[in-house]
Amino acid sequence: MYQNWDELEACCHACTNCNLCKTRKNVVVGVGNREAEVLFIGEGPGENEDLQGEPFVGRGGQLLDKMLHAIDLDRNKNIYIANIVKCRPPQNRDPLPEEQEACIQWLRNQVALIRPKIIVCLGRIAGMKLIKPDLKITKEHGIFFEKNGVWMMATLHPAALLRNPAQKPGAFDDFLKLREKIKEVCQQTYSDI
Ligand code: URA
Ligand code: SF4
Repeated sequence: MYQNWDELEACCHACTNCNLCKTRKNVVVGVGNREAEVLFIGEGPGENEDLQGEPFVGRGGQLLDKMLHAIDLDRNKNIYIANIVKCRPPQNRDPLPEEQEACIQWLRNQVALIRPKIIVCLGRIAGMKLIKPDLKITKEHGIFFEKNGVWMMATLHPAALLRNPAQKPGAFDDFLKLREKIKEVCQQTYSDI
C-alpha cells in the first residue's frame, strides 16, 4: 500500500501485473479531486481513454459529464473518477476476472487514500466487483448498499445509455438519488463549488 499519490501513480504507470500491459498505450489511473467524498468507478479504458490517459473522455464521457453537471458535480472539482482495470482491454472486451483481480489492488489503494463516503459504480462490471457478485444492474441500479461505512450504488453505464436511450430517465433518477445521499452524508461536496 502506497501512502502518497506520487508513489502510487508512478508505480501504477509502470505496472506489468497482467497481460493488458502489452497492448496499452497509457495506464489510466484516474482523474479528479483526491480529497473527494464521492468516487465514481467505471469498467476500464476504451480507445480514447487509452490514447489520452484520462477516464471517460469519449462519447460516453461527454454524456457522463452532462449527467454530473445536472447534479452540480464536476470531474475536476468535487469528485474523483477511476476504473476497475487501468489498462484498455483489446477491442473493448470485458476485463477478464484475472485482470480485474490483478488490478483491484490499485483501486483499493486509491480508496484508502481518498476515503470516499460514497462510491458510484458505473455499469454492471464495477457493480458486480465492488457491491456483490450477483448484482442485477437492471433491477438494482439506484439502490444504496452500505459496506464498511461507505455508501455504494450502481447505475447504468454511459455507453449502455448511448446504445439504449430509453434507459436514460432511469439513470437520471439514480443521479437524483445520489444528490440526496450526498446532501445527507457529505460535508464538502456541495460547499466547494
Ligand atoms: N468506459 C469505462 O468504463 N471507463 C472509461 O474510462 C471509459 C469508458
Ligand atoms: Fe497493471 Fe492493472 Fe494495467 Fe493490468 S490493467 S497491467 S494490473 S495497471
